[in-house]
Amino acid sequence: MVEPREPKEKDGDDERRKPARKAKSPKVAKPGPKAEPGHPRLPVRRERNSLFFDAYDGTPPWDIGRAQPAFVELANMGQIEGSVLDLGCGTGDLVLEMAEEGHEAWGVDFVPRAIDQAKVKARLRGMEGEATFLVGDALEVEHLNRTFDTVLDCGLFHTFSDPERELYEQQLRAVTHPGSRVHIMAMSDWEDDSWGGPRRVTQAELMDTFRDGWRVEDIVEARFLVLPGYNVRAHAWLASFVREAAPGRKVARKAVPNKPIKKAVKAAPAPKGGKVVEAAA
Ligand SMILES: C[S@@+](CC[C@H](N)C(=O)[O-])C[C@H]1O[C@@H](n2cnc3c(N)ncnc32)[C@H](O)[C@@H]1O
Repeated sequence: MVEPREPKEKDGDDERRKPARKAKSPKVAKPGPKAEPGHPRLPVRRERNSLFFDAYDGTPPWDIGRAQPAFVELANMGQIEGSVLDLGCGTGDLVLEMAEEGHEAWGVDFVPRAIDQAKVKARLRGMEGEATFLVGDALEVEHLNRTFDTVLDCGLFHTFSDPERELYEQQLRAVTHPGSRVHIMAMSDWEDDSWGGPRRVTQAELMDTFRDGWRVEDIVEARFLVLPGYNVRAHAWLASFVREAAPGRKVARKAVPNKPIKKAVKAAPAPKGGKVVEAAA
């Protein structure tokens, strides 16, 4: 959504917050916050996307005080079933909406302040105990040691780098079972690039991340709603993937014994008028 681009390494404020690090030590998960009673402790890597840790000192543009309409619509269409996990849940409006709809609803965000605000919202709405909010890293959710029927991602996927996307997909496997659905809303490549904001995501990139063991159910155009005063269109893709029964396996190439080459083989001519296949909308 409309979070500013990640500050550069040298940004003074950000630097001050970083603990002094020895040169090139391997990245080790920092101990997470205190475990919630009855829940495992999820590790949090503080150095990931630190701008979010400052965002909740105020009200970030995406924190509109209610669930994003695109997800409410999904729920109305019966696309959200059973137990629900919202990754990068922010201050919890979508989780609370799901709980109100009668789902077992969990939210995970790595910013403790966001989770604190989610819990306050739950209390103020008389919904204390009706939803579970945990501080944790979406790239470490395997530690939840359980699966959900539906996983929601409203504005998280587009924060990840390419390698993190792969890791995220693996983590989604850990918290889903065959038949589970994952709904992801990410800032799309249709969005004007001039104002900064998160990475733009293409349909092809979404499909590529979920290429093995997932069925693409839908990828449709959507919009993030943002607070008034932010002059952005916030074009998004709303993508839905279903976890397949048998995870697709990468087929290893058969080893072919080396034979002496007798004749040089002429390359076949390229077919004329090659077909361009467009990503499904
Ligand atoms: C653009 S905001 C969207 C928040 C919320 N989904 C909403 O719609 O209001 C992205 C959220 O993802 C969280 N986040 C980013 N990276 C994360 C990670 N690796 N693990 C957990 N939360 C993360 C941020 O703290 C932030 O709350």
